[in-house]
Amino acid sequence: MKNPLIVALDVPDKESALGLVRRLEGTVGFYKIGLQLFTRCGPGIVDAIKGTGARVFLDLKFHDIPNTVRKSVESASALGVDLLTIHLSGGAAMIRAAADGAAPGTLVLGVTVLTSSNRETLHETGIDGAVEDQVLRLARLAAENGVTGVVASPQEVTLLRQVFGSGLTIVTPGVRPEWAEANDQQRTMTPKAAMQAGADYLVIGRPITGLSDPREAAERILGELF
Ligand code: C5P
Repeated sequence: MKNPLIVALDVPDKESALGLVRRLEGTVGFYKIGLQLFTRCGPGIVDAIKGTGARVFLDLKFHDIPNTVRKSVESASALGVDLLTIHLSGGAAMIRAAADGAAPGTLVLGVTVLTSSNRETLHETGIDGAVEDQVLRLARLAAENGVTGVVASPQEVTLLRQVFGSGLTIVTPGVRPEWAEANDQQRTMTPKAAMQAGADYLVIGRPITGLSDPREAAERILGELF
């Protein structure tokens, strides 16, 4: 059975990241490297984590002209990343360029609407209507242009699964076990509820990485899932 746990390595440096990877060895499907860690450490952090045998999700949310995005996805694929993100609001040509740039082993995921955005945020940038409509619109644009995975909030998983069926890979952050702190996440779902709603993978950070025994936390979450 596939391991759906993606642990967010939201830590400041390579030593902390590798320390977590060592402690979690064997319990996690993927490690997510975001802007903070990548900007600090550079591509060497991908090599270092891949060197432990783990799989890497590079969450840099590319959004640029199509040619730049294609070349950046090619570079990420050459590093051996297994998952990476783009912003779907970059439009059809940019999405196609990302799909074209990805090597067979790299799955491109599209970010629809960030969970930090609401109706007002969309309105500020000239988009009127409900957040859910914009999420569906962008997910459709992704599917039409060769990107078959999205990052979505737990609240959107059921709808996306209904509309797109099993062809779409859905990755969900904002997940919290009942025993964990919510931190700054709002409208969370438990890991089990998110999987039952149709998520394929769960991005979890602080409920695992913030504990004194991260391995025990990861095992507890997996135990609640299966
Ligand atoms: O610590 P926590 O479990 O809240 O970490 C969630 C991770 O998922 C963080 O790296 C955060 O940036 C990311 N994320 C999110 N919500 C989104 C997109 C990404 O929480 N909509």
